[in-house]
Amino acid sequence: MEKILVQNAGKFEGQKVKLNGWVYNSRRSGKIGFLLFRDGTGVMQCILVKNDVGEEIFENFKKLTQESAISVEGEVVKNDRAPGGFELLLSNLETHHLIDGYPITPKEHGTEYLMNHRHLWIRSKRQHAILRIRHEIIKATRDFFDSNDFTLVDTPIFTSNACEGTTTLFETEYFGESAYLSQSGQLYGEANAMAFGRQYNFGPTFRAEKSKTRRHLTEFWMVEPEIAYCELDENIEWAEKLITFIIDRVISNKKIELETLERNVEDLEKFKGEFPKISYTEAVDILQKGGFDFEWGGDFGSPEETYIAEQFDKPVVVHRFPTAIKAFYMKRDSENEKVVLGMDVLAPEGYGEIIGGAQREDNLDFLLERIEHEKLPKEEFEWYLDLRRFGSVHHSGFGMGIERVVAWICKLPHVRETIPYPRMIQTLRP
Ligand code: 4AD
Ligand code: MG
Repeated sequence: MEKILVQNAGKFEGQKVKLNGWVYNSRRSGKIGFLLFRDGTGVMQCILVKNDVGEEIFENFKKLTQESAISVEGEVVKNDRAPGGFELLLSNLETHHLIDGYPITPKEHGTEYLMNHRHLWIRSKRQHAILRIRHEIIKATRDFFDSNDFTLVDTPIFTSNACEGTTTLFETEYFGESAYLSQSGQLYGEANAMAFGRQYNFGPTFRAEKSKTRRHLTEFWMVEPEIAYCELDENIEWAEKLITFIIDRVISNKKIELETLERNVEDLEKFKGEFPKISYTEAVDILQKGGFDFEWGGDFGSPEETYIAEQFDKPVVVHRFPTAIKAFYMKRDSENEKVVLGMDVLAPEGYGEIIGGAQREDNLDFLLERIEHEKLPKEEFEWYLDLRRFGSVHHSGFGMGIERVVAWICKLPHVRETIPYPRMIQTLRP
């Protein structure tokens, strides 16, 4: 008998198969048993008829509790009303581990309780759907870059310098000196771009974010393309194409999961394509007209980002920010010294910044000026400055936070559900 997975059940219609997994739920109606069975790839309904399976199997079924480990055998039949469109007419049932008192019952539990049981919570339907969509988003991201001639070049996690400012650095002892957990692989990405032309790096990044918000984690995954001979406009185009590609993939490959989350697919479709683009100065204008007490030069917080994004029905690109609020590596605009060629993509529906990027400063003197002005230790950036000494060309890149994108695509209230084991200011366990 073939051993199959729930997600492939449709290919075995009319055949007798075996599945290994766990009890999601079970109920009885007289001599018929209904078992919701999960195996990690999906949930399948199994039907047991007492007269068909016999007394012993039916008695074993009656004893089953939520999350007991079982194997089931039976025939796959079509049923449009069953989850996934197919169900199993059960002929055999084997119990491997009968359990008592699973901590997460179908009733409502508070978020704190669920977060403390995260290692079990990920078995629940919604959490499972979110993490499957996360996988699809990561796979789509990799496929996008791989099929566009980018080389994956890994960047280190232990670093000796700060990429994104010194206030959110995690410091750790490193054989008698200080090391910092990487906030972004970008600086190495720039070196890689000069070696490979188009590169991307993808990995965990760390920020000692002391604020508790629904958008911030202390450990999050970022994908960062970096492209040689690329100006700001082309950089924005790459971001648009990437987001569109991801949305297409999730819609095509994760239908059941989107359904589980009640995410409207038409809404997602609308977000694809070319994004509206406004300068920071135009964004400030929008805020002021909208009644915000906001002055040119300030940094947008969540309410500002949400309001700006609400004015558009697609993600919106904001570009050319004041130099003072942006990182040292952003290129100054040759037409306006007060701004740099940075760009942020703000997602609709209140999700805020999902992408941050820039054209990089390729002029050695301007870069030195910024490093001094930011009081960064110049010696730690010597290798980075070499990139402006040896074959310096215009180049751009961006970072996309995977968790922010997952939160937006799944339409979740908080970023903590987008990663298997979230790390936040007060969350280190499980
Ligand atoms: O805008 P950020 O700070 O940009 C950089 O780190 C650049 N060096 C990237 C680059 O150009 N290569 O971060 C990039 C993205 C944000 O737009 C956001 O999506 C995500 O990373 N992000 C966070 N996600 C979750 N929790 C946090 N604390 C995050 N901080 C940034
Ligand atoms: Mg940013």
